[in-house]
Amino acid sequence: MGVANGLLLKRRQSTVTRMAEYVLGHHLKGEGKRLALMSELLDPTHRRYLQSLAVVKSGGRTLEVGCGNGSISAWLAEQVAPDGRAVAVDLDLSLVDVHLPNLEFRKADIMAGPVESGSFDLVTARAVLHHVANAERAIGNLIASLRPGGAILLIEPDFLPVTIAEPPEVRAFWSGWLAWSRDRGIDYQIGRTLAPRLHALGVEKIGGTAETAIYNGTSSWANYWTETITELRQDLTSSDKLNNGLIDSVLGYCADPAWWTQTIAFTAVHGYAPGL
Ligand SMILES: C[S@@+](CC[C@H](N)C(=O)[O-])C[C@H]1O[C@@H](n2cnc3c(N)ncnc32)[C@H](O)[C@@H]1O
Repeated sequence: MGVANGLLLKRRQSTVTRMAEYVLGHHLKGEGKRLALMSELLDPTHRRYLQSLAVVKSGGRTLEVGCGNGSISAWLAEQVAPDGRAVAVDLDLSLVDVHLPNLEFRKADIMAGPVESGSFDLVTARAVLHHVANAERAIGNLIASLRPGGAILLIEPDFLPVTIAEPPEVRAFWSGWLAWSRDRGIDYQIGRTLAPRLHALGVEKIGGTAETAIYNGTSSWANYWTETITELRQDLTSSDKLNNGLIDSVLGYCADPAWWTQTIAFTAVHGYAPGL
């Protein structure tokens, strides 16, 4: 599989190309709490999908890219112990607080190339690819890190449900959010493209599913959105796609236990590298 070398480029929107840098840097106030909420909300499903692939077992080699706080990699390390090895990669490892003898953290950019060509029984990435400037290159590098017959599992958002969110000001907020994200080079509809992308890159036995959380104000999902929106508030308002009134309205709903909604569909797609 041909994989071009690349660098993560500074985001500058232009009429010709759109490049992206990661907008939710680990230095931002609240990012540790936000990543912890992601682990709480998404790890159980992620682990269930990983178990169903039947390649995560004692003695195996696993790779997670965009590991965030490292919670899934810690679980993978436990599954492959004592003889197996887990590798966890991220642009920024400052929010990792887990240490296991068979878990290696590496600071790296998946845009730069495969982590170790042809090495891993399992490669997974969650909530990473919607942020990268060139998803095709990133996915190519993930696939190139697999051993023949190894499994890949990608989990990414698809914001289709927000287009029918209620009440109307919440829908207006999400419309502004999606306009902002397009300007920032973030693809919140990437979930629906994962299966065809894997197919185009030669991955076999592809399957997948999407799940949407239904939640109310004050729940962990509502707290996750409160953290995320608050963290990005200045960027959102300076983009002219969202104003403080709409943001305050959504934060108010997130604090109201009587308000129920659904937002992200998380699309999980898996497949196997050819060769066995
Ligand atoms: C939204 S967080 C998700 C973290 C974790 N996967 C989770 O779902 O809880 C995205 C993570 O991907 C990392 N990331 C973004 N772009 C990356 C790249 N090009 N290469 C490696 N990691 C990247 C970020 O630093 C961040 O930790």
